Amino acid sequence: MNEVLKTISERRSVRSYQKKGIPREIIMKIIEAGNQAPSGMNSQPWRFVVVEDDAFHKRLLDTAIPNAKRLLEDVKRTNPERYQLIMKRYEELEDPIYYSAPVIIFVIGRGRYADLSCPLACQNMMLAARSLGIGSCWVYFGSLVTEDEEIRKALELKDDEKIFGPIVFGYPEQFPEPPEKKPPVIKWI
Ligand SMILES: Cc1cc2nc3c(=O)[nH]c(=O)nc-3n(C[C@H](O)[C@H](O)[C@H](O)COP(=O)(O)O)c2cc1C
Repeated sequence: MNEVLKTISERRSVRSYQKKGIPREIIMKIIEAGNQAPSGMNSQPWRFVVVEDDAFHKRLLDTAIPNAKRLLEDVKRTNPERYQLIMKRYEELEDPIYYSAPVIIFVIGRGRYADLSCPLACQNMMLAARSLGIGSCWVYFGSLVTEDEEIRKALELKDDEKIFGPIVFGYPEQFPEPPEKKPPVIKWI
């Protein structure tokens, strides 16, 4: 297997991190990889906010948790098995949203091409991280923070902007075993 295919197959959502931070030059490599993603009309409709500050991390967590719990009520009805798995994390972890990761990156997009293009930047970043021995996880629940004016101000979030991710990054305790993946559904013509 070549290096790219190996990295793709070895990327996993990591939910348990070592305490140590990620050097800035490594974070820059991850962001550069995001910035190289394809985008509609080469618009690059993204910007990045890197959160390393513990107090801000805590504020994000305190804001996201009640919103995540509200959404989980839906999961309870539609996917009780998944709900049990997630609730276990809420019982066991100090931070069941950002997994106490040392770095959170908000990918913030705007404009007509953002919805299709920003997730490609996110995926590039997660793959780049894996290739550097760094774990990551896209945490949608971590985006449920936009009602807090202080947070909006810190992120400089405009009304016409949208959060993708955020993605948490850090050195993993370990890369988990892959979850079961369905075989691809393919039709050849
Ligand atoms: C759009 C999106 C939102 C996600 N949100 C969360 C989340 O809020 N919390 C979480 O722990 N994982 C989240 N994940 C990670 C998925 O649970 C994970 O990708 C999936 O279980 C497959 O595992 P793998 O990434 O190791 O292949 C999200 C992934 C995507 C793509």
